[in-house]
Amino acid sequence: MSEHKVETHPPSDEFARNAHADHATYEKMYADSIADPDAFWGEHGKRVDWIKPFSKVKNTDFTYGQVDIKWFEDGTLNVASNCIDRHLKDRADQTAIIWVPDEDDGSDQHISYQQLHAHVCNFANVLKKMGVGRGDRVVIYLPMIPQAAYAMLACARIGAIHSVVFAGFSPDALSQRVNGSKAKVVITADGGPRGGKVTDLKGNTDRAMEKVEHDAKVLVVKRVGDGVRNWVEGRDHWLHEMEDGIGDTCEPEEMGAEDPLFILYTSGSTGQPKGVVHTTGGYLVYASMTHQYTFDYHDGDVYWCTADVGWVTGHSYIVYGPLANGATTVMFEGVPTYPDAGRCWKIVEDHKVAQFYTAPTGIRALMGKGNEFVEKHDLSSLKVLGTVGEPINPEAWNWYNRIVGRGKTPIVDTWWQTETGGHMLTPLPGATTTKPGSATKPFFGVKPVVLEPESGEVLEGGDVEGVLAIADSWPGQMRTVYGDHERFMNTYFQQYKGFYFTEDGCTRDADGDYWITGRVDDVINVSGHRMGTAEVESALVAHDAVSEAAVVGVPHEVKGQGIYCYVSLMAGHEPSEELKQELVGWVRNEIGPIAKPDFIQWAPGLPKTRSGKIMRRILRKVAANEHDQLGDTSTLAEPEVVDDLIENRLNK
Ligand code: WT7
Repeated sequence: MSEHKVETHPPSDEFARNAHADHATYEKMYADSIADPDAFWGEHGKRVDWIKPFSKVKNTDFTYGQVDIKWFEDGTLNVASNCIDRHLKDRADQTAIIWVPDEDDGSDQHISYQQLHAHVCNFANVLKKMGVGRGDRVVIYLPMIPQAAYAMLACARIGAIHSVVFAGFSPDALSQRVNGSKAKVVITADGGPRGGKVTDLKGNTDRAMEKVEHDAKVLVVKRVGDGVRNWVEGRDHWLHEMEDGIGDTCEPEEMGAEDPLFILYTSGSTGQPKGVVHTTGGYLVYASMTHQYTFDYHDGDVYWCTADVGWVTGHSYIVYGPLANGATTVMFEGVPTYPDAGRCWKIVEDHKVAQFYTAPTGIRALMGKGNEFVEKHDLSSLKVLGTVGEPINPEAWNWYNRIVGRGKTPIVDTWWQTETGGHMLTPLPGATTTKPGSATKPFFGVKPVVLEPESGEVLEGGDVEGVLAIADSWPGQMRTVYGDHERFMNTYFQQYKGFYFTEDGCTRDADGDYWITGRVDDVINVSGHRMGTAEVESALVAHDAVSEAAVVGVPHEVKGQGIYCYVSLMAGHEPSEELKQELVGWVRNEIGPIAKPDFIQWAPGLPKTRSGKIMRRILRKVAANEHDQLGDTSTLAEPEVVDDLIENRLNK
């Protein structure tokens, strides 16, 4: 680890005074949540409306071979009525969703809770008419349009299980997910506009359906209106035609707390993507409580999470958490750089966004475009900034803090996973002293432990480094892998008995703050020294000329693994041998001699999934000169960047 002096940013007194939790409140609530989870969650479980109240709170077992997780198990509720109906009394006319389309043409829509109710009931009735009922699966393959939220909530209303597939995924990935869940209906759109280009979602769905082995219908939302090339009579239905005269009342189904709410596929280090299953009661309690506390959400705030509903972040923090809290949530169809790199800041200004939540990769990309795109907008509405998805390097954190937050907006670096349903390690903006790059402290009810990776021994105290595991269940935890409970146990509970294993490495410092170092499969071992690729990346991007860097291990005869760096430059900097040497020296200086890069390859672009995650698997193969074994590249946002990397690879 590098020995940088760590900056600390305590919450301001003013912020703390008005926050849901100041430091003392956090400490007290956290201690209570750990001392008596039944009492704590029994109380906070009441934040959602139950049809039949629960009498049992926690019933969970992490024992390998018999893992079983139940929360509030005898309670009944409906998620859609919690996200909509219960708000109609007080806030029927309040905006529930602000929809911002891809084109910056002033056609943003405000959808009130009353309107949301009608849309969702309509949609639910359409699904019923198509034969969907309790427990049936529905695949949602939509762009970021309000109908994506309506579809999710409509499923929840009638007790169907949705499986949202990111609209950037290929037909193959879609067909796997339709087959995997034997979905009765696939909901798509005629097209998905993003960054000025339109994806032919209906065309992709047609191709996916060729590989679907059971009878499934296709419901098509008209987004673009340019017509569709192919229409299968009997299988394909337009939403607007189905909705005609269907009626906008639909009684919510009474669901058990442990009935599945959704399946969401996520990739692991091995095998095909897993269908992560989240259930009804615990998930909603956890998503709504984390949304309120982590973002310090207050009535009247406009909240914006830039994720896509195709990811868990979109589920928990665009749709379920905010709507359960009666919030106003922004849904943005486009990308941060279209029509220019000021788009996000224009949206913040236009809608007076109070909480803004995005990924470090996005922050770094915008940072590289220059401050003028930020500075020309009025961002005075911002109260809290959030990040998620990967470790954030201190330079990006500082830029976010200084340039976007004007030095006075707390940053919450939220660590969590598809599997965890909601935030696990995060600052609370009125309570926690933040440090650039640290996800700081556990959320209520979360018991993180640092384990010695080989022995599994629990490392106590400060200044320890190991793998991150969680010692006990929390309400938002995934319950199983869809159709494969064995795989669930083997993936998360086998390696370290009695713990949920996160597959992340981490350190805990002397203040008890957690620092995620990245997936343990991204840890490289150089001459017996363990090093997070994120550490080297962080060093590289600390250099003025570098906008983004990805680092992988590469087989090395002497050191075991060497360090291979892919580097993208800031506008105005040109690749040169001189700059390369400068960067090698820079990293050596920043971290130490063992971190000296073996290779620096100039990369005009990095291979990313459509959610912005760098696909290191591909980078490792190219670095290892094994580009003939790249494996599945169908989830890449821009497959062409790989060709450039292969052509200019250095380890031939
Ligand atoms: C993995 C989970 C859950 C939201 C989006 C990603 C990494 C996530 C952080 C953070 C460092 C982070 C971890 C984790 N990660 N947030 N704040 N700091 N790393 O969900 O696709 O399930 O990925 O993302 O490695 O295990 P996901």
